[in-house]
Amino acid sequence: MGEAKKLFIKTYGCQMNVYDSERMAEALGGAGYVATDRADDADMILLNTCHIREKAAEKVYSELGRLKPLKAERPDLKIGVTGCVAQAEGEEIMRRQPLVDLVVGPQSYHRLPQMEARVAEGHKALDTDFPEEDKFETLQKRPRAARGPSAFLTVQEGCDKFCAFCVVPYTRGAEVSRPAARILSEARDLVSRGVREVTLLGQNVNAYHGAAPEGEGPWSLADLARGLAAIEGLERIRYTTSHPNDMADDLIQAHADCDKLMPYLHLPVQSGSDRILKAMNRKHTARQYLDLIARIRARRPDIMLSGDFIVGFPGETDEDFEQTLALIEAVNYGQAYSFKYSPRPGTPAAERAGHVDDAVATERLRRLQALLERQQKAVQQAMVGREVGVLFEKPGRMPGQIVGKSDYLHAVHVPGPQDLIGQVRRVRIVESTSNSLAGELI
Ligand code: 5AD
Ligand code: SF4
Repeated sequence: MGEAKKLFIKTYGCQMNVYDSERMAEALGGAGYVATDRADDADMILLNTCHIREKAAEKVYSELGRLKPLKAERPDLKIGVTGCVAQAEGEEIMRRQPLVDLVVGPQSYHRLPQMEARVAEGHKALDTDFPEEDKFETLQKRPRAARGPSAFLTVQEGCDKFCAFCVVPYTRGAEVSRPAARILSEARDLVSRGVREVTLLGQNVNAYHGAAPEGEGPWSLADLARGLAAIEGLERIRYTTSHPNDMADDLIQAHADCDKLMPYLHLPVQSGSDRILKAMNRKHTARQYLDLIARIRARRPDIMLSGDFIVGFPGETDEDFEQTLALIEAVNYGQAYSFKYSPRPGTPAAERAGHVDDAVATERLRRLQALLERQQKAVQQAMVGREVGVLFEKPGRMPGQIVGKSDYLHAVHVPGPQDLIGQVRRVRIVESTSNSLAGELI
């Protein structure tokens, strides 16, 4: 047996990329690789990339530039680009940066071991197919690495919504749901290795409609949540990201009566202006979104809401922007992400007139983020004095301290013994600091 080769993966972008990076490491484990967290002693470096906004994609090229001296020093070093930039730009990456040996898209990374073998023989390897075989099926045969108490689990991939600004339907392809039986067995396996919380991932996760375990079906996301809730030892279920138009009644009901489904919902709306929502092809109005939130809160009053916003979409006026601020005021978000519009090649919006001046978009983003931050702080402050469940994940920065996540996804630290790591305990929140909560065990 030769010495193990070392693999360094740098992950950009969303949680699904984090999940994919873990699966890639497992796939290459079968080809003799072990993970390292240092690029400079790796035998293979993979950049698992994000294409959602221009800045995210450009980062990849600057990182590749930085790897040049390393590759010059060690010509045997294999360098690969994976993820959504790989899918969108394919061969263009090797043209722009000849040091790249391997390019593989998000649907074919289970073929990495064969590609690595081709690269070892001195070839370049490119695979941006949407293959027939199921990558999850191929990958599930590999043992998953030991891990912390919280894990991601991909249940659905791709998107059929075609929002006018978004590359996802092109890079991740059409909406596909994994069969429920496979998800349940992956979850059981995770639980047997100490996992207590799963976050179900999908670009459009609440559109989930996978084959039911017994054949009749399909299962909705609510069915899947209830199926997972029956697994002993699994204590918490989360999911992300959802589209308002797929927020079905059975899922709202599950938030009311399925204890393991956490009271947190990431439900992007992007804009509060009906005119812009229409131009974005979101297929709902601001009023419909607010009514939906009201129906959800009627059944789960304490649910924490999170969202995504885009400012400076082509044609956005001051009046449109004010309507976005008004929607945010009406919802009261506990957490949110916001971005300046970034034109993506190949998307309908990229061709449109009505470009918003960058200085105007910057100022709108500043105002929007100031409002969101105020809401976030107030929601966090309102936790003080309340009792919440906390899943402890690791030791805190101070000796004798442990930290974890509350039901509402706030970071919480308490004085407490290390052996509570991996367990859910009731905690009384005593203080809100800048980005976490302090509590005490009950
Ligand atoms: N420009 C800016 N933000 C975008 N998003 C998606 N595409 C773009 C784009 N072209 C944001 C949306 C989405 C989140 C994942 O990224 O808000 O919900
Ligand atoms: Fe992109 Fe989400 Fe719209 Fe799908 S629903 S196109 S992933 S923003």
